[in-house]
Order: sequence, then structure tokens, then C-alpha cells
Amino acid sequence: MACAQTGSGKTAAFCFPIIGGIMKGQYGQRPPRGTRTVFPLALILSPTRELSSQIHEEARKFSYQTGVKVVVVYGGTPIQQQLRELERGVDILVATPGRLVDLLERAKVSLEMIRYLALDEADRMLDMGFEPQIRKIVEQTDMPPPGQRQTMLFSATFPREIQRLASDFLSNYIFLTVGRVGSSTDLIVQRVELVQEADKRSYLMDLLHAQKENDTSGKQALTLVFVETKKGADSLEYWLYNNGFPATTIHGDRTQPEREQALRSFKSGKTPILVATDVAARGLDIPSVSHVVNFDLPKDIDDYVHRIGRTGRAGKSGLATAFFNDNNMSLAKSLADLMKEANQEVPDWLTRYASRASYGGGGGKNRRPGGGRFGGRDFRKDNSYSSGGGYGGGNSGGGGYGGYGNSGGGGYGGYGSGNSGGGYSGYTGGSGAPSAWD
Ligand SMILES: Nc1ncnc2c1ncn2[C@@H]1O[C@H](COP(=O)(O)OP(=O)(O)OP(=O)(O)O)[C@@H](O)[C@H]1O
Ligand SMILES: [Mg+2]
Repeated sequence: MACAQTGSGKTAAFCFPIIGGIMKGQYGQRPPRGTRTVFPLALILSPTRELSSQIHEEARKFSYQTGVKVVVVYGGTPIQQQLRELERGVDILVATPGRLVDLLERAKVSLEMIRYLALDEADRMLDMGFEPQIRKIVEQTDMPPPGQRQTMLFSATFPREIQRLASDFLSNYIFLTVGRVGSSTDLIVQRVELVQEADKRSYLMDLLHAQKENDTSGKQALTLVFVETKKGADSLEYWLYNNGFPATTIHGDRTQPEREQALRSFKSGKTPILVATDVAARGLDIPSVSHVVNFDLPKDIDDYVHRIGRTGRAGKSGLATAFFNDNNMSLAKSLADLMKEANQEVPDWLTRYASRASYGGGGGKNRRPGGGRFGGRDFRKDNSYSSGGGYGGGNSGGGGYGGYGNSGGGGYGGYGSGNSGGGYSGYTGGSGAPSAWD
């Protein structure tokens, strides 16, 4: 179970061990091809089609000339073509849960030979929406049990109750964090503006104009605008377009070809503004996104962390602007805390709202009981967590977890080894950019 900030390179962190493991390849004989059922050795699941497609591209790059075959399957596209791809052979299967279940039911794919299972955006995958499908795939098929396969769960956020749920899929696991679980990177400058619903559009217009004027880099800077609803996305796109801002939109009511076209058009700079719902909040890696606007703030702080994480990636800096008003009061405290932690300037009004929320119980909408961001979420300080042997050498004498690095940068990291006798000395994650970028 691994947690590191957005844009820090988790994809490579789960792809390389899989590719390396398959290259060593001592997995016995796979059933002969021609049975029309394929037997991948590794399965990587992610919550959205675009993310699965991106992971597929990355994994293919990483496995260049290794002979390791990577295939992706996801919904919204004709299944025939994917079947043909599969029949040409597959070692690593990247998939969205829905399409995979379909293929399993048609007996086109068997999970019998799986040795590596990776869930990207694992907390989302085990959240209410996806959990039944994941259970079906992992527990009700011929997939080898934990212990006989290596299971990897990755995300930038990991609510505590999801961590607990996740232990069902693991045995003797290691919990590895870089920085505090759920923290944002301080490569992103975060701004919050008090904007009433009726004023949001003209505010956005001002932001976009200012951006145009300030953009001296010559390179097309991309702006990603998050809204709450699919309808809201369409109507904002339409309005932007009519006001001279080339925009496109991505959300769940668009067809898959439309979604892919929108993403291409955005990436290429043809439409440098993308209006999106949360379908684009997680995992997408588009290097020239320089500004994320939370036109409508999400209800959950973790969603905010993922959304703003579409900028400020791989050591680059980025800007995130949020429009806040009465409707977002339940987010006030967690937002103020998160910003403070990332050394951001918190407006006085937000601090006031935040303290009101924490005394008045305004955080009640937060889906996690206990509300408060600190303490409540800090897995490591939660002495009550002892089931599952998750960390700190829970089931070995010599385990022990890595030290804190609370000083200076404020971040902490460290290994917790549940199954090795040695115990790691741990290391300090820090909240700054990973030094590996330079
Ligand atoms: N060692 C590295 N040096 C330079 N760039 C890297 C390195 N590792 C990864 N990257 C790049 O960093 C970017 C972000 O990586 P990646 O998408 O894996 O982040 P992530 O941790 O999965 O973020 P998120 O939580 O948003 O999904 C990618 O463009 C990737 O190619
Ligand atoms: Mg990722």
C-alpha cells in the first residue's frame, strides 16, 4: 500500500517491478494459446478509461524491447478490436473494472496466472462505487489469493477506512508513504477566492484574460476547469466558446470518441481550456496544464487534492484557483488546514470560516466520521489501528517503522514493514519536490 503526492511518479513505481518480475519470468507454463482464453501475468486496474489508456502508454514505453506485452481494455469502445489485441498475447493487462468483468464473463480472460495485481487510485477503486466490482474480480474469480500474488495499491490519498478495507486484499503488507497521506504538493500555488454562484462566470473570464496577458512563455498554457455536474460542464463550455475562449469538455455523458477527442484537442492546445467533471480529476498526466480552476469545489478534500494535482507535476510548478462560497462551508476547515500545511497563504475569511466550522460542527458533511483532517486521518498516530498487521512490524518482532521527519519541511515518510525481521530505518519524505527531478 503506497501513498505519494500527485505527480510524483507512482505509475513508474508500480510498472517497473511488474515488468522486471515478468522479465525474470519463472511462472511455469501458461496454457497454450489458441484456447481463445488469455492468461495475463499482471493486472493493472484504474477507475477511468482515459487513465487506463495513459497507464497502458506508459507501461508500453517502460517495456520497450523487453518482449513484455501490454494490452489495455476499457468500456465505451468496440470490444472486438480489444479481443483481437488480446489474442495476440498479453503479459500485462491494463483495464477498467467494467470491461474486465465483461471479458471474464465471456471467458476471454482468465486471471489464474496473475502474479501481480496493481490498483491505481486504489482508494477510489475501493470506494463505494467500484468496490463490488473489484471484489468480484479479485475474490470471485480464479485469481490466486493474496500471498500467491503481489498486490500493489497506489494513490495520493488514502482515507483510513479505505485503508482498512484494503487489507482484505493484502497479506503481510508494507505501508509506504512519502509525505503525509493525503497532502498536496507545495509545487502548486493555491488560491481561494470568495465568489458567489452568480459571479463565477465573470470571475473565470477575468482569470482567463489575465492569464492570456501574463503568458509570455510563448508556449500554450492549458487551463483545466472543474465543475460539479455534466450539465454544468456543457453549459460552461458553450458560454466560454461564445465568449471567445476555445474550450472543450469531458464528462460521463459524452461518448468515448468524444471524450478522447476532447482530451486530444486539449493536450495539443487547440482548445486550451478543458471543462471537466471529476472524471478527469485523477491520475491524468498532461504536462502543460499550468492552471486548475475549481469553478465548483468538490465536497471532499481528497477530491480537491487530486484535482489540483493535475498541475504542478514532475517538479514543475502550477497554479490552482478555487471559487468558494456558502455552499462549500463544509470544506472550509480541511481546505484551510491543507493549504497551511503546504505553506500557502490562507485568506483571513477562510480561517474564520474554518474555525466556525470546527466549533459549530460544520464539517458534518464530510464523508468521513471524525471530520478533522489532522489526527483523524493520521494513520500512524492512530493507536487503535492494529488489525491486519499493516505497519510497524505488526506481526514481527523486528519490524518497526521509519522515523518521522517532522522538522523543517514538515513532511514525514518512512517504511513500515509488516513481514520482515529487519525493519527499515525509514526516510524523510518532506513536502518539497522529490530531489530526483533535478
Ligand atoms: N524519475 C522521474 N524523472 C522525471 N520524470 C518522472 C520520473 N518519474 C516519473 N516522471 C514523470 O512524472 C509525471 C507524473 O508521473 P505519474 O503520472 O506517475 O504521477 P502520479 O504519482 O501517478 O500522480 P497522480 O497521483 O496524479 O496519479 C509523468 O509525466 C512521469 O513521466
Ligand atoms: Mg497516477
